[in-house]
Amino acid sequence: MNKRQIIDNISAYVKEKQSGEGSGHDWWHTKRVLDTAKYLAQKEDADLFIVELAALLHDIADWKFADGDDKAGSKVATELLTKYDVDKESIDHVCHIVDNVSFKGEAQENKISTIEVKVVQDADRLDALGAIGIARVFAYGGSKAREIYNPDIKFQEKMDFEKYKKNEGSSLNHFYEKLLLLKDLINTKSAKKIAEERHQFMLTYLDEFYKEWDAKY
Ligand code: NI
Repeated sequence: MNKRQIIDNISAYVKEKQSGEGSGHDWWHTKRVLDTAKYLAQKEDADLFIVELAALLHDIADWKFADGDDKAGSKVATELLTKYDVDKESIDHVCHIVDNVSFKGEAQENKISTIEVKVVQDADRLDALGAIGIARVFAYGGSKAREIYNPDIKFQEKMDFEKYKKNEGSSLNHFYEKLLLLKDLINTKSAKKIAEERHQFMLTYLDEFYKEWDAKY
């Protein structure tokens, strides 16, 4: 099986697994991350095969849904890639990316190594920003029965992983606890430019949100 066929097969598998998911980690999130990662891989001269595989598998068993097993993703990835006879070195690289892509609270920022990790992580983070980022933050909040906004609950600064996992603030708090921090955590130059634009868009959105909230006319 050639590389293209492997990608197509894995793509079909992930699509089947993630279709209809309602918290913003659905197949279309993966598809957008894949498309952005391919764009960034070209700009940044990263290995396209590794980047495509890792983008496709990056949320296959997300820790937020995998009962706290933070290696669940790489286990699924190893099994799947072994089935398609992908070489061991590539499997290890993809698994390293899958294990390191997720945002785990500001204090948890990890030791990023290869350009392929950087590209996939950037693509995933870009999808948390801008118009789609806003849609996803409320979809995720809804899936956890969070309020849209509650001015009585202040957002938390510098959360560690434990705090971040247990976080019970409103969806709007999530802008301050994650989304607005992301532009400074972007790894590559090509992604930084996109992140800046999406960041500005979110600031404009928040201005409008508070204006409407406070009935300022
Ligand atoms: Ni993701």
